[in-house]
Amino acid sequence: MSSVTISLIKADVGSLCGHHIVHPKQIEVAQEFLEKAKVRGIVLDYYVFNCGDDLELLMTHEEGENSQRIHELAWNIFKEVTEKVSKPLKLYAAGQDLLKETFSGNVKGMGPGVAEIEIEERPSEPFVVFAADKTEPGAWNLPLYKIFADPSNTAGLVIDPNMHGGFSFRVMDVKKGKYVDLECPKEIYELVALIGTTGRYVIDRIYRSEDKLLAAVASTSRLSLIAGKYVGKDDPCMIVRAQHGLPAVGEILAPFGFPHLVAGWMRGSHNGPLIPVGLKDARCTFFDGPPRVVGLGFQLSNGKLVGLKGKEPADIFEDVAFDGARRKGMEIADYLRRHGEFMPARLGPEEMEYTTLPDVLKKLEERFAEEK
Ligand code: F6R
Ligand code: MG
Ligand code: MG
Repeated sequence: MSSVTISLIKADVGSLCGHHIVHPKQIEVAQEFLEKAKVRGIVLDYYVFNCGDDLELLMTHEEGENSQRIHELAWNIFKEVTEKVSKPLKLYAAGQDLLKETFSGNVKGMGPGVAEIEIEERPSEPFVVFAADKTEPGAWNLPLYKIFADPSNTAGLVIDPNMHGGFSFRVMDVKKGKYVDLECPKEIYELVALIGTTGRYVIDRIYRSEDKLLAAVASTSRLSLIAGKYVGKDDPCMIVRAQHGLPAVGEILAPFGFPHLVAGWMRGSHNGPLIPVGLKDARCTFFDGPPRVVGLGFQLSNGKLVGLKGKEPADIFEDVAFDGARRKGMEIADYLRRHGEFMPARLGPEEMEYTTLPDVLKKLEERFAEEK
């Protein structure tokens, strides 16, 4: 077959018990809608899931990236779920991420997060889909760096000659809406110089340098920059292809064994550990968190999703191997919370600008007197 596109489009359109979890009825309505789209031949296949309060639509199709047809489909699903379920059940923050009234060609810049990858399906095409809640796109910077640039994480960078050409990282400056391509290992220091600033420079996609094979794509939208005010964190997603001259699935998962600190958590205003969880634990509780990530493993077969039972994916973090990361994550969560509202538990002033804190500080402005 010709090229296939895997699109993961997600939005928070309301949730149960605050910003806790997507309601099963929301998933059901999205599934029904996508089943009809499949029968009409718009999509080849789909899988609907959630990470916390974010509804995630995974779709395969032949329309390419940024297809108006696919983006409109996703937009209409989010609208339908909002109108048919979120509003009647008075779920919390119904339609939250639908920042614009009407669809205008592409959901990017309208609220939903998008990760899309157009590929020539390999003889065997394993890939992993990641989705996180209560954090921002910069949360992927450290794991993606480790997976594609760090030989102490990815043995293949040393052992597999097919990876010796390295990988090219496309980094977005989310403030300016510009990007730069950096070749690793040659420009690894420049890469880290940028992506260490996780709130501004985020990895958009990664190519294998030798043949420009697209290996990974991530969602990069910053809702607050679109809306110009606090509207929650973006709760990013990404798609990573694996094996046979790309990092092995185990090399892709290994960085998540370390619950690194990410921005987000309560009120999008705190640093917290990103803990890897199975789908059943993809719901935020303690202090609206801690931030969580799920990993779903699939094979692609002629554009169709192959999972365990039918297209049920391998629920990759639902494994004892990640118990240690979860435990350590909760220790870190407890340690950070003991700081209360003091930095660095709370984010710095630049990030807090996009929260409701400035409204509080405004009230004090007039009371500041000159130092005597
Ligand atoms: C973070 C998040 C939550 C809310 C918090 C307050 O992304 O969604 O932590 O910020 O629960 O929510 P509101 O202001 O809606 O009461
Ligand atoms: Mg929410
Ligand atoms: Mg969320």
